[in-house]
Amino acid sequence: MRRYLRVLLVCMVFALISVLYVFSQLASSLETPAGASGSDPQQRAAFHRGGSAHGGRKAPGKPGPEDQHWYNRYIMRKPDSAESGRARDELMHLAVVACGQRLQETLTMLKSAVLFSGRQLHVHIFAEDQLHASFKEALEMWPAPFRSRLNYTVYPITFPAENAKEWKKLFKPCASQRLFLPIILKEVDSLLYVDTDILFLRPVEDMWAFLARFNSSQMAAMAPEHEDPRIAWYSRFARHPYYGKTGINSGVMLMNMTRIRQKLFKNDMTPVALKWEDLLMPLLQKYKLNITWGDQDLLNIIFHHNPESLFVFPCQWNYRPDHCIYGSNCVPAEQEGVFILHGNRGVYHDEKQPAFRAVYEAIQKFKFGDDPVHSLLGPLEERLLGTTHTYCGRVRHLFTKRLAQSVTTVHMDTPKGR
Ligand SMILES: *[C@@H]1O[C@H](CO)[C@@H](O)[C@H](O)[C@H]1NC(C)=O
Ligand SMILES: *[C@@H]1O[C@H](CO)[C@@H](O)[C@H](O)[C@H]1NC(C)=O
Ligand SMILES: *[C@@H]1O[C@H](CO)[C@@H](O)[C@H](O)[C@H]1NC(C)=O
Ligand SMILES: *[C@@H]1O[C@H](CO)[C@@H](O)[C@H](O)[C@H]1NC(C)=O
Repeated sequence: MRRYLRVLLVCMVFALISVLYVFSQLASSLETPAGASGSDPQQRAAFHRGGSAHGGRKAPGKPGPEDQHWYNRYIMRKPDSAESGRARDELMHLAVVACGQRLQETLTMLKSAVLFSGRQLHVHIFAEDQLHASFKEALEMWPAPFRSRLNYTVYPITFPAENAKEWKKLFKPCASQRLFLPIILKEVDSLLYVDTDILFLRPVEDMWAFLARFNSSQMAAMAPEHEDPRIAWYSRFARHPYYGKTGINSGVMLMNMTRIRQKLFKNDMTPVALKWEDLLMPLLQKYKLNITWGDQDLLNIIFHHNPESLFVFPCQWNYRPDHCIYGSNCVPAEQEGVFILHGNRGVYHDEKQPAFRAVYEAIQKFKFGDDPVHSLLGPLEERLLGTTHTYCGRVRHLFTKRLAQSVTTVHMDTPKGR
């Protein structure tokens, strides 16, 4: 009996030591992010090298040393039960085309993407040559915890060699760049394209999740251009075919580019279906005199003839002044708030829609590391009170409804001691 007691005692001591060991390991792993978040250039460089642009799936069970920082961030987050393990590991690709005066606006878009997202993002920035240095300079100055969530590549504006001259001549170079993304980014499976005047008010991964909801024939997702055909642009003015009743808006466009590259598209130029790369030139030639909104019109023509390929997401994922300047007409936004704001027609920079401008400036002025509840949401809500003389200002609560939720997750994830 005594011997049994002794054995039991030894076992209990072992168990206690094991528990203590596990605790000490856990504690040291949780301490690393704050400590490692300085601007350690070696770590930053290592991070740059780690993973890959294409299919850069991380194996959360086996972090390499260069992935330590990312890994620590990853395990500290509460797992999102809505996402499957596979989807959570998939590297998200975001593309934007920036020309002219769009540097600040693009950086603000990227800030909103990184601020609320809990996942690694690869950003493909297509920009005029004179903007390249400024992009790199600005992004390298982001504090490490935010900088490390994004990996980027800056590209010049380019077109497929065969027709490059013709495209540049026929169209403003920047306007048609996005049509060529499936051809230029050959190694990328899926991509979220956004205009520079987009602001994410909820995590990018929530938009990315639509990819998993595509049925077998869908390859792109966009929002309707308008909610009400009676006041919609395409149904009243277009001199070319367009998708559905009101057309689609291409400011937020999610693509499975693998499928786009494989698909043969029905069209009204040849009796045979054409590949994406063979479709664009004849399409432009046929319609160039009749299109008003450039590449968006071409996309409308393509999906008019191939409606089974398009997934339409609701308007709060691409919320524009049109949704409120004549009175509120985006019903899902009224229920759940705005998820992605799209300040088209320059409303972030003029006085026409102060509610849109208020959101833009709140995010632009926000400093990484500050408390977003007090330094972003608070000032924004106050400023929106001054917009109630406009139709969009009257529905100002739609602009902050989802954002108020998003800022609380940033709050929790901001490493302590910064
Ligand atoms: C970042 O992008 C570069 C260029 O595409 C790639 O070589 C690198 O592996 C990427 N790093 C991560 C962490 O995704
Ligand atoms: C895109 O489509 C291809 C081909 O159907 C598929 O293998 C791939 O998993 C899809 N990508 C995503 C992110 O759903
Ligand atoms: C362009 O618009 C004109 C005038 O509405 C129309 O007659 C013509 O058929 C259109 N062209 C194409 C290619 O649809
Ligand atoms: C996918 O959904 C679209 C839109 O609802 C539909 O038109 C298409 O037929 C569907 N494709 C398949 C294969 O079910």
